[in-house]
Amino acid sequence: LAAINKSLKKITSQVPDDKQFKTEMDDFYSQVSRYIKEKVKSKELDWEKVKSPKPEYVIPYNQINPAKKDEVSSLLNKLAVIKLNGGLGTTMGCVGPKSAIEVRNGLTFLDLTVQQIEHLNSTYNANVPLILMNSFNTDEDTQKILKKYYNHDINIYTFNQSRWPRINADSLLPIASSAKPTAGAWYPPGHGDIYSSLYNSGLLQKLLDLGKEYVFVSNIDNLGATVDTKILSHVFDSQTDFVLEVTDKTKADIKGGTIIDYDGSIRLLEIAQVPKLYVDDFKRVKKFKIFNTNNIWIRLDAIKSLVEQKKLDLDLIVNRKTTDSGERVIQLETAIGAAMKHFEKAHGVNVPRSRFLPVKSTSDLFIVTSDLYILKDGVLTMNPLRTFGNVPIVKLGDHFKKVKDFQARFKSPPQILELDHLSVTGDVYFGAHVTLTGTVIIVANHGAHIDIPRGAVLNDKVVSGDLRI
Ligand code: UTP
Repeated sequence: LAAINKSLKKITSQVPDDKQFKTEMDDFYSQVSRYIKEKVKSKELDWEKVKSPKPEYVIPYNQINPAKKDEVSSLLNKLAVIKLNGGLGTTMGCVGPKSAIEVRNGLTFLDLTVQQIEHLNSTYNANVPLILMNSFNTDEDTQKILKKYYNHDINIYTFNQSRWPRINADSLLPIASSAKPTAGAWYPPGHGDIYSSLYNSGLLQKLLDLGKEYVFVSNIDNLGATVDTKILSHVFDSQTDFVLEVTDKTKADIKGGTIIDYDGSIRLLEIAQVPKLYVDDFKRVKKFKIFNTNNIWIRLDAIKSLVEQKKLDLDLIVNRKTTDSGERVIQLETAIGAAMKHFEKAHGVNVPRSRFLPVKSTSDLFIVTSDLYILKDGVLTMNPLRTFGNVPIVKLGDHFKKVKDFQARFKSPPQILELDHLSVTGDVYFGAHVTLTGTVIIVANHGAHIDIPRGAVLNDKVVSGDLRI
């Protein structure tokens, strides 16, 4: 620990005037000390104490009363929306913030969010500000993009989350020798950073001064995370500190955290915290029926008091990586939902699946750009012509991984209103106005190329070989 402290001091001494950075390094030091102490104590969860939550702790959405129309506007004026915008678009092959990726009709995640809030404000004659939590990776590009909204009738604020140094997996010493924010040596330490960063930025106090009482926080890549007036009114009615939106789990959602009762208190359990022996138990849909959407409503003065009392020691996620130069490193991270157990009054609301529409890959992008969804005022809703209201299973292969390649390989988005399952592997291109229904499997083996012709209708079909037009 002494060596870590010395190394951090050396780094901070390079920027003596940067008070914020000094605070971040102090925070980091206390987390890394915690990590070392907890490792020695091997603080593992006692699986015997993990129980399903009592029904009153997870309220079904359809049991919530609709909002009273004449109240919505005054409730909205006490709300701010925060989008978690610290992440990059790297997994989808893009440089820059993920929120700058074009999702539909040339509009990015950020554009859609702005449209949603503008529409909300004009519909209810309210003033909900939009706040972005940026990271050192995304702030500069985001500020440039935001310029186009200067003349819009919407208040947009930003604050930056911390940056922490990656540490060598064996020595636990920072691999950075300079305070310069290079991406290899520094990282944004997960969305759990929101509490201290919002507080330290001064924005939390500013929001309270503006009369805001709650924040609605969500991932910027979740297109279903709109401000729902029914949940809004429930949050104010129940005067809770923390409401976590969860939704019914399907077999595809085994990774997401779930709400549990642990020793009589409610908390979010992430897969990373589950002892190895019980991971299969955790994944089972039967035992843990719901999972976290990361849509969260939090009372601002509760955040303030917990941060001031230093009561928000969030469980650490240990993310092991290997750098480009082959060095094994550790990133200590925290997640926003882990704070649930620290709030005095917290519960879940089991929301419809439509509130969880994340875009993590181009396969997700394929679905949200198709005719399966209708876009209006920045909000995507499922086309009512889709018979069962379910989402098809889509797996696009590596040739489609980058957004640029994905866009080049579809002349126009195929029609998929009756699609159940699509799997595409290899060098495949789609002409305009293609219709895909039922189960469609397209395989171009190594060296082969397949062109799906313009206007083709593929119904329960397997296409393979080499087809050029
Ligand atoms: P993630 O990259 O963590 O996605 O980003 P995930 O792993 O699928 O989802 P979770 O973490 O289980 O919910 C989720 C959101 O959090 C932001 C990203 O920009 C994205 O909107 N994020 C992530 C931050 O703002 N800061 C971070 O340090 C990490």
